[in-house]
Amino acid sequence: MKTCLITGVSKGLGKALALKFKKEGFTVAGISRSKPDFNIDYHIQVDLTDKNAVEEIYEKFSQKYNRLDVLINNAGIGLYDSWENTKEEDLRKLFEINFFKTVLITQKFLPFLKETKGSVINVSSVAGKIYVPFMGTYCSSKFALNAFSDSLRAELKPYEVHVLNLIVGRINTGFSSRALGSLKPPETPSFGGSAEKFSEVVFKAYKKKKREITFPYWYKFLIVISKIFPYLYDNISLKSWKK
Ligand SMILES: NC(=O)c1ccc[n+]([C@@H]2O[C@H](COP(=O)([O-])OP(=O)(O)OC[C@H]3O[C@@H](n4cnc5c(N)ncnc54)[C@H](OP(=O)(O)O)[C@@H]3O)[C@@H](O)[C@H]2O)c1
Repeated sequence: MKTCLITGVSKGLGKALALKFKKEGFTVAGISRSKPDFNIDYHIQVDLTDKNAVEEIYEKFSQKYNRLDVLINNAGIGLYDSWENTKEEDLRKLFEINFFKTVLITQKFLPFLKETKGSVINVSSVAGKIYVPFMGTYCSSKFALNAFSDSLRAELKPYEVHVLNLIVGRINTGFSSRALGSLKPPETPSFGGSAEKFSEVVFKAYKKKKREITFPYWYKFLIVISKIFPYLYDNISLKSWKK
């Protein structure tokens, strides 16, 4: 049976992806600090900021399973603050979860994925394509993640390991309320984006071995507009913070 490992499985997008892959017949293992409130084949309770997190995940997973078909790097946190006021501790924590552990977990599981000619699915963000003021740290972590996905995809081509990068727009999961930093983000709409719909779209993209998708799709236009009219985008994005 095909096996899928998901980081950040306890809630939000990770939970929706776990339920979808399970429904499609996968054995689903997942990682998070809190226990999932739904049925999962194997849960590894780990804090990704722990020094030994990667070793612990690998040991526990490989004691139970001898194959991995899909690795979904989904765990992530936000940070809302100015560059001037961002605390070093928060910045390091953000990069530890959103970037470093994503890279290190992927490295560790590549032998499994090469064996199955499997897939790496990275949950990135629209904030990895366009900057947002007072979210610069989060944007930086997701810009880095996009570069990781694209270069990894090229490196893994000879091994037929597929890399799918997800450019995700706003989806109501409570993500913002759990973010680091001293600011509260402005309310922005999440037109057309539920976690369930997201999981359906991601599964289709995985089956079609797509390189990258944007969800909800309309964020593609926002990305293009921000590149064509950068001064206008600066002003609008800054204004959105003024209540
Ligand atoms: N929701 C959005 O609008 C949106 C938009 C763009 C991109 N994204 C990206 O989508 C991904 C998932 O976001 P979400 O909306 O589902 O967020 P969420 O509801 O806050 O879920 C985050 C998941 O990550 C896990 N996690 C957080 N810190 C962890 C740690 N230190 N160790 C282990 N697990 C940890 C959480 O589990 P525990 O708390 O149980 O540890 C939880 O399962 C993130 O990478 C995010 O950047 C989300």
